[in-house]
Amino acid sequence: MEQGKLFSQDKLKEIREQFYYVDKDANGCSRLFFDNAGGSFRLKKAEERFREIDMIPDCSERNHKMAKYLQEIEEQGKDDVRTIFNIKGGSIVTALTASQAIFQLTGSVAENIPGTNIVTSVLEHPSAFDAVGYYAEKTGKEVRVAKSNPLTGGVDAEEIAGLIDQDTVLLNVMYASNISGAIFNIPEIIKTARKIKPDLYIIVDAVQHTPHGAMDFFGLDVDAVTFAPYKFFGVRGIGVAYISERMAKLPHHKLAGKKEGEWELGSPAPAQYAMITEIINYVCSLSEDKAETSRREAFANGMEQIALHERALLYHLLEGTEKNRGLRGRKGINVFMDHGSLTTRDLIIGIGFDNIDYADAVKEYEKRGVIVYERVASSLYSRRMLESFNLKGAIRVSPLHCNSIDELDQFLEVTEEISKL
Ligand SMILES: Cc1ncc(COP(=O)(O)O)c(C=O)c1O
Repeated sequence: MEQGKLFSQDKLKEIREQFYYVDKDANGCSRLFFDNAGGSFRLKKAEERFREIDMIPDCSERNHKMAKYLQEIEEQGKDDVRTIFNIKGGSIVTALTASQAIFQLTGSVAENIPGTNIVTSVLEHPSAFDAVGYYAEKTGKEVRVAKSNPLTGGVDAEEIAGLIDQDTVLLNVMYASNISGAIFNIPEIIKTARKIKPDLYIIVDAVQHTPHGAMDFFGLDVDAVTFAPYKFFGVRGIGVAYISERMAKLPHHKLAGKKEGEWELGSPAPAQYAMITEIINYVCSLSEDKAETSRREAFANGMEQIALHERALLYHLLEGTEKNRGLRGRKGINVFMDHGSLTTRDLIIGIGFDNIDYADAVKEYEKRGVIVYERVASSLYSRRMLESFNLKGAIRVSPLHCNSIDELDQFLEVTEEISKL
């Protein structure tokens, strides 16, 4: 399965019909939307269910029938967050964005656990990297930054382990890079780190990887994992984290009358949970494992089908066919962070042209009906990560499992045209 496996034509058609704006923008203009890492195609059912539940005026913190119905929706949504990560127990944290959740969690550990340093990696999104910087400064701790590995596009477990000691308070690390697409070996990273300090607090930012593959945190005792529904076929306006029981007990903003492990502050929003449940239903519906026995198994299998289709798309983008060469074989086009086996990569590539700079190339793509995004060293969202790979910039191309080989061929043609401007 090194080169992935495409959905059948019929299956892909069925999938595409379940999402909004896959081949046209909101004004009805045809386009290729290849910026899913900045916010993914939306699942119609997630959007519809969100609206359906959000129309209900009742507060779920009441005792009447409708309130109880909303409570059930919330509980199902929370269980479904656990399904994504294959985790039981703990608590669920919600905020307006994943960044807000990561800052809150980092602060609770940094301000309450004794120690002198915090470990993170150079590839972290600013939400984790800057949270670490902010709370390290506030609490007088040292920040230790693990380097990237240019060969894999990720960060190695040994590199991280080399920075951890008995005085490390927290490890803040991502599951996959939103710049290189590299999937980190998180089970290995957690196990190696815990060998050095068994009670180390570990927060994993899974925002990038959640839409692209199954994760399994069973038995890893992770303290927090975050994701953002708007990058996972859902709606904007919520960031979500699972947290462990010991993490939930740390001092945090809380109404005094609430239970000890409760992190939700103020009125819950059942519609957000209903939306998450629809996303999980959708992924389960893609499962090919007819003998599956649990929701988790169906979910994991569904994610595996997504990962296989996306890997086949990635392979096609890079290698193409005899008739239509992929990006690797084209003159004047550079593929960056083009590392290792495709089994350790999400469907993201970074490219550049010999003849045109990143921002201008993105405008040329738009003129030709293709939406991609430039990551340049002048941006606060990109500099540190790009410099770690010795790059000044990259055009990030991020399709989704809803995309087809035909669309990638159109993209390759447009790319060829731009390389000849
Ligand atoms: C890897 C990663 N972590 C965290 C975030 C932050 O998510 P949010 O925009 O919900 O704060 C992003 C957003 O781009 C991301 O890609």
